[in-house]
Amino acid sequence: MNTVWSEHVQGIQTLYLSRKLRFDDRFFEQYDRIFRLDRHAKMKILEIGCGPGALAEALRGWYPEAEITAVDRDAGFLVFAKEHIPGVTFTEGDVTALPFEDGTFDAVISNTVQEHVEPGAFWGEQKRVLKPGGVCLCLSGRRGISCTAPCLERTEKEAAYWNRCPDWKEELEQYNVCRYPMTEAGIPQSMAEHGFVNVTTGYAVIDLTPDDPKYPPETAEMMFEAMRQNDIEAARRYFSGQELQEVLSLVNARFDERARLYRCGMKQWDTTVSVTMILRGTA
Ligand SMILES: C[S@@+](CC[C@H](N)C(=O)[O-])C[C@H]1O[C@@H](n2cnc3c(N)ncnc32)[C@H](O)[C@@H]1O
Repeated sequence: MNTVWSEHVQGIQTLYLSRKLRFDDRFFEQYDRIFRLDRHAKMKILEIGCGPGALAEALRGWYPEAEITAVDRDAGFLVFAKEHIPGVTFTEGDVTALPFEDGTFDAVISNTVQEHVEPGAFWGEQKRVLKPGGVCLCLSGRRGISCTAPCLERTEKEAAYWNRCPDWKEELEQYNVCRYPMTEAGIPQSMAEHGFVNVTTGYAVIDLTPDDPKYPPETAEMMFEAMRQNDIEAARRYFSGQELQEVLSLVNARFDERARLYRCGMKQWDTTVSVTMILRGTA
């Protein structure tokens, strides 16, 4: 059973909660103007490298007539997705050898997967399983903006624990993460070189600023929870026993304080702005 990604790279809650925010219905318009898929069509959509399934879950709501299948090789993500997300068929499989017949799908979509997979296989397999004229949508995270609230900065005591962790970049190499990074110009070029036509690009800019009144309290609280879970899952990877308890209590203290300030209206205006490049091409 392959659980390398969910155990060593990004935890289930880390990915699920951050993507649930990013693919919230309030941002659908931004995606829709680039996806240009018929919301009422009875099409077959495949998501590749779906992780714990937040995008597939959003697609289910956005395209109610579509049949949605999602594939990933990490069994940990799939157990979570199958348990929490009805209405999507989650399947274990490798994106370099997709377990589907040629010409099965009307659309194939991925989010932050391209940089981890050899380009020939990444594009080639999507093209193979798409019907002629089918749509390939490739979402790629680009550099965004992050401004942290002072109460969320790690104390010296907490930082001393984290500083002892192995170098993250070296770890990622060990797990073949981000082996094939591409620039904003490189991805569309690569897509076209691998046989897709009518390639277009666009960007979705998602600003997550909990203190902005455009966000209701449950969304603001979810932003804190997504960040908290990111640190909790990382702590569980690196620490154990008494040390883990100590780190978790320091992490929780920071996020409890952030939530307290929010609830009593003391605005911090901390923000995370993610920029997602979206490529669209046809097979
Ligand atoms: C950065 S995560 C993104 C997950 C999901 N798309 C999301 O946005 O939450 C990359 C995902 O690609 C999956 N992945 C990487 N290489 C893969 C491969 N060769 N076959 C199947 N899945 C793969 C990982 O298991 C992981 O779930």
